Amino acid sequence: MKKIPLISSVLLAAGLVSPVSTVMAYEAGDWLIRGRVINVNPNDSSGTLSINGVDQGTKGVKVDSDTVPELDITYMLNQNWGVELILGYSEHTVSGEKSWAVLGDVIDTKVLPPTLTLQYHFLPDSNIRPYIGAGVNYTYFFDEKVPSSSAISSPGDKVKLDSSWGWAAQVGVDIAINQDWFVNMDVKYLDIDTTASFKNIAVGTAKIDADIDPFVYGIGIGRRF
Ligand code: NI
Repeated sequence: MKKIPLISSVLLAAGLVSPVSTVMAYEAGDWLIRGRVINVNPNDSSGTLSINGVDQGTKGVKVDSDTVPELDITYMLNQNWGVELILGYSEHTVSGEKSWAVLGDVIDTKVLPPTLTLQYHFLPDSNIRPYIGAGVNYTYFFDEKVPSSSAISSPGDKVKLDSSWGWAAQVGVDIAINQDWFVNMDVKYLDIDTTASFKNIAVGTAKIDADIDPFVYGIGIGRRF
């Protein structure tokens, strides 16, 4: 008996996929548009904290995860190679932890992390089409705030997060539903490092270096054009 990979048997059982007799193959010039739900899961570690220019040593911060919709577009350069751009934004809260847990939430921010990757599709003419990719991520933080509930909040306070350039890596798979539609699963790692600069907070001025470096887990549906 032919072994069917677990994921396709689950999708077959759910009636999402019928065994495709005429296999669709990616071709040069194809556009693949996917809509996904992504979970942005920061794998954070903070570097140093300085207050009024005085280094306070390494403290702890953590960044919560967020689940949001995302749109991505792949252009196939040929059967195997494609270029993907992802567009989406998420919202995160940065909180103190370990020796710094007393501060509670210190930053609320919105994050726009457009990411461009070059992908290699291993089986472009199969119903199950895995790929890997690598590229660059640019992350822009906006609408940053010190939450008014924060222990460091004071009137007129401000926080700004530097935007970040870093590398990105991904693995994923497109699973054919029919000639044009497919289910997609994708995991990315984004290298995002930033510095938060605080002004007019209760302790003076402060800076924190933070590596956010999230894993981004996505599942969705796509169509070839
Ligand atoms: Ni990093």
